[in-house]
Amino acid sequence: MFENLLENLPASLLRLGILFSGQGSNMQALIESLHQRTFLGKKPIIIEVALCLTNKSKAPGIARAQKLGVPCVVLEPANYAQTSDFERALIEHLSLARCHLVLLAGYMRLVSPLFLEHFPTLNIHPSMLPHFKGKDALRASFEAKEGTGVSVHVVTPQLDSGPIIAQQALNPKPQESLESFTQRIHALEHQLYPKALLQALGLERFT
Ligand code: GAR
Repeated sequence: MFENLLENLPASLLRLGILFSGQGSNMQALIESLHQRTFLGKKPIIIEVALCLTNKSKAPGIARAQKLGVPCVVLEPANYAQTSDFERALIEHLSLARCHLVLLAGYMRLVSPLFLEHFPTLNIHPSMLPHFKGKDALRASFEAKEGTGVSVHVVTPQLDSGPIIAQQALNPKPQESLESFTQRIHALEHQLYPKALLQALGLERFT
């Protein structure tokens, strides 16, 4: 889907930006499986997570990014007069870090059409889209006993609506608690997101 992106890369280096708002466990999984590794496609490609960025100054994910040695910037919308100023600042940071592609990893804001003109962007969502778009999808699908699973999709200006790249259903076990099911969904997310990205880029794991 994004194979063309790789053809014009200088030095065969793909630079990623990751946006998050909370725990950052998906960000960590992406860094651990992709950062500074070489992948095989039409030619070998090195992936570099160039920048992590959060809209929440107290996000626990900040410490995770620091521990993993990846630069992490905090940009709080409240510090900007208008949403469009915040969005421009986001674009500026990701552009300065020379990011080619952006991954939303528990980033709980919509991104603007202007943002999407600058960066092809993917998102992970804890339900079988189009079931249960928006916040609290994991709990809502668990309680409804349908649409449970994980989706990775291309981001469009509409909430949780772009083309699906990968999807995997996961059903609660009989009597399973929400806490236990949440852990299993997160474990699935951590595997599916890097795999879906590589699939969208037409890349295979090499090192
Ligand atoms: C993940 O379950 C992710 O799918 C979800 O937020 C959680 C973030 O966890 N995203 C959405 O609901 C997006 N609509 P993490 O911060 O530990 O990665």
